[in-house]
Amino acid sequence: MLTMSFSVRKAVFPAAGLGTRFLPATKAQPKEMLPLVDKPIIQYGVEEALASGVENIIIVTGRGKSAIEDHFDVAFELEAFLSARGKTELLEEIRKVSNLINVSYVRQGEPLGLGHAVLMAEPLVGDESFAVILADDVIDATPPALAQMIKVHEEVDGPVILVERVRPEDISNYGVIAAETIRPGVYKVTDMVEKPPREQAPSDLAIIGRYILTPDIFGALRATREDRSGEIQLTNGLKHLLKDRPVYACEVTGVRHDTGNKLGFLKAVVYFAMQRPDLAGPLREYLKTMT
Ligand code: UTP
Repeated sequence: MLTMSFSVRKAVFPAAGLGTRFLPATKAQPKEMLPLVDKPIIQYGVEEALASGVENIIIVTGRGKSAIEDHFDVAFELEAFLSARGKTELLEEIRKVSNLINVSYVRQGEPLGLGHAVLMAEPLVGDESFAVILADDVIDATPPALAQMIKVHEEVDGPVILVERVRPEDISNYGVIAAETIRPGVYKVTDMVEKPPREQAPSDLAIIGRYILTPDIFGALRATREDRSGEIQLTNGLKHLLKDRPVYACEVTGVRHDTGNKLGFLKAVVYFAMQRPDLAGPLREYLKTMT
């Protein structure tokens, strides 16, 4: 079901990171193009944006990311080949990718951090609220995760961060919010801490890869200092913004896979394969033999 909303029309996909956790696979291809079964990771995020009523996709790319542009472009030769061989289903599948989407690209010359990548999108975003989707986090949800956030954004009229409750042993891998509950699943953020030690985490609500931001984030990011590794972090930009305006969080209802790490990626492949009638049975049989 399509959830139509016009309050958020643009989604920024930062995809200029180096993907070092997947080397050597990512030496010559972007990690966003690694497939979960037969669909590249970034396409899951783009389809989520479209299903949430967001029509303009802005991808922040860097060196060696041209495969992403080719993927969302019309593949004339491939289409002619499939058409000549009567492979109509596949033809529809690849046309769907290029037909539906209005994609723009902006370059981040150097990977200077997620906050810096978002800043690169400013000329294309302009003066309106927009979404940021980290394609690594693939979320299977109904309604889509972004649609859940847009609903909250319309209610609170401010920036919304997506959060998920995580186990205490995992919390130090995430940005974590301190928050007051507005109602179940919706929070007013009072602070954010990047990767706190387990015993210092202010809550079990971890920031995951979706944000709805207001255009004042750009000023906040410009005013944000580089961290020790020389990067401008989005969380630090949001902390800056928090001094001037309320920021909210929304707890996702759905299944999230962090495909940015190897185990998370493998779990996601199995999860999506299990949803496919042609693969679920044989894969289950195979996995049983793996003990
Ligand atoms: P990550 O740190 O998870 O991604 O950044 P990475 O750097 O690509 O991967 P590893 O850690 O080396 O394996 C989160 C998101 O922010 C983007 C990444 O592409 C990813 O989608 N990003 C990060 C940028 O676009 N630019 C940056 O400078 C940093």
